Amino acid sequence: MSTPQQANPQQAARLQQIRRQWEQKRQITDRLSAVRTTVGVYSGKGGVGKTTVACNLATTLAAQGERVGLLDVDIDCPNVTRVMGVRDKPDYQDGQISPAECHGVKVVSMAFFQENEDEAIIWRGPMIHNAINQFLQATDWGELDYLIVDLPPGTSDSPLTVMQTLPMDGFVVVSTPQDLAIIDAKRCINMIRKLNLNVVGIVENYSGAIFGEGAGRQLAEDIDAPFLGSMSLSGSYRDTSRPTVLVDDAVSGEYAAVAEQLRSSLKALGREA
Ligand SMILES: Nc1ncnc2c1ncn2[C@@H]1O[C@H](COP(=O)(O)OP(=O)(O)OP(=O)(O)O)[C@@H](O)[C@H]1O
Ligand SMILES: [Mg+2]
Repeated sequence: MSTPQQANPQQAARLQQIRRQWEQKRQITDRLSAVRTTVGVYSGKGGVGKTTVACNLATTLAAQGERVGLLDVDIDCPNVTRVMGVRDKPDYQDGQISPAECHGVKVVSMAFFQENEDEAIIWRGPMIHNAINQFLQATDWGELDYLIVDLPPGTSDSPLTVMQTLPMDGFVVVSTPQDLAIIDAKRCINMIRKLNLNVVGIVENYSGAIFGEGAGRQLAEDIDAPFLGSMSLSGSYRDTSRPTVLVDDAVSGEYAAVAEQLRSSLKALGREA
């Protein structure tokens, strides 16, 4: 094999790229070395409540005494800061991000780096990939029991980058009871499994008389994964000042049940925090 000096320009560029990627991966692994469990919140379909579930689950785990981080990798529409009600900006010094803290959860989101919340981020896949990598390389999470990752919908750019870059212990798949959401949930479950990763379980959101209930449990049975629980369609989510578990006891009870099921599913997978 030729040495870098002997390689033609294309080979040399390729070698350099491999070195860069390897170095990036090493830095990301170092950054996450004190994180015990990393769980993604994911769905094929948009608007099913991923961000809501990620924020409320993170807040629930933190209230139970766990050390929790929340990473928003929805680069186009970063909504985590809104749902958490984060007011502070994270500390950014010498290329290092110290997460903002809110309701006991350490938060990092692209929203922190937008001048204006209404700004449209119009990026192609490679830029999204780079942004996620930079977050992962730069963030000092410290010691965490759980890092919860809020993903955007779909089965392409950001989810793929997360699945290939982060050492994920598994994914909570969010679905609503409707047929179309279930079909898209199956698509994202296939993606997770194609990449040899774990489905930690299914949650059903917007359960109740309007959209129906039970399809999430059925999906879990069909794909042989645990059902972690359901969250009712509720008017309490209209209060956007804080995560809804801090506003409504019934919602808080639903999330406490999901957190318990999450722990036992992670344990069964040998991935507990
Ligand atoms: N159980 C619920 N009852 C009532 N409203 C809910 C419930 N869950 C989520 N919502 C509301 O539905 C809207 C969409 O939720 P959210 O942003 O969490 O979805 P998402 O899956 O993250 O969307 P996207 O795919 O765009 O990232 C929000 O306004 C949220 O407050
Ligand atoms: Mg979202």
